[in-house]
Amino acid sequence: MTITENTIVCGNSFQLLDQVGEESVDLIICDGPYGVTQNDWDQIASIQDFNLRLIQQFSPKLKPGGALYLFGKPDCIDFIDYRPYLTLRSKIIWYQPSRLAQGRLNYTNNYDIICYFTKGQRPAQFNLDDIRIAQLVELEHRLRCEKVPSVVNGQYGKTKFNQKGKNPGDVWGDIKQLTYKSKELVSRDALNTIQKPEKLIERLVLASSSSGDLVLDPFAGVGTCPVVCKRHQRRFLAFELNPDFVQKGLERLEALDYGQGKLELSYGA
Ligand SMILES: C[S@@+](CC[C@H](N)C(=O)[O-])C[C@H]1O[C@@H](n2cnc3c(N)ncnc32)[C@H](O)[C@@H]1O
Repeated sequence: MTITENTIVCGNSFQLLDQVGEESVDLIICDGPYGVTQNDWDQIASIQDFNLRLIQQFSPKLKPGGALYLFGKPDCIDFIDYRPYLTLRSKIIWYQPSRLAQGRLNYTNNYDIICYFTKGQRPAQFNLDDIRIAQLVELEHRLRCEKVPSVVNGQYGKTKFNQKGKNPGDVWGDIKQLTYKSKELVSRDALNTIQKPEKLIERLVLASSSSGDLVLDPFAGVGTCPVVCKRHQRRFLAFELNPDFVQKGLERLEALDYGQGKLELSYGA
């Protein structure tokens, strides 16, 4: 199978990776196995070993300063040494209140982790203005905050109100998991373990890439990242094992040509 930009290629990403140029990619979004579901593709003996191998093999494809986002459960990078390859800048918590929390011996897990890595110490880009979220602060509180001196230099005015909104921070409770009623859900089978909300992937794509940049999605599922990339004029390489998912993803990409599949809220729009 030969890889082509701006489509979804059916195959194993660890094999297809050989065809991706070294230091050619601006952003990699890895929403692959979590090692927690019954899906065939999620049967991983050690998710930490899997993720270390992933980081070792994918990071050489990133340009210096490029970003890699890795999805998983809270322990997904515990006790592995990723530091020779990438710098961990944030562990983003994607918070989803459990509707039917069933845990009896433990606190029910209510969040996924999105590890934000960069190649090198500093990101080549972090487009904060494109991902700001509403800043709902009362005037009195805002004025009080603006009069607090900075811890670093003692000067006032460190905490400025920004009309465009605030940094989304590293706990994201504003983007909801898809439900059976979500318009963008491609099929009931894709709920929970497969399809991510477009708004979630959009925040990553907008923050860490620019128009014309190359984004790699090695675990494309039903094509959420390719759809977001196409909508925002990013070039993309996308791989997916399951031919049915590839087909669904290609249909979603095609629907964009006919003005369908529009996202209601676009960060930074
Ligand atoms: C969590 S889903 C990705 C969902 C995707 N972000 C979306 O919104 O549609 C993970 C996907 O990775 C695919 N996958 C797992 N291992 C793979 C591999 N080695 N190569 C390519 N695809 C793989 C699975 O088939 C599954 O569709």
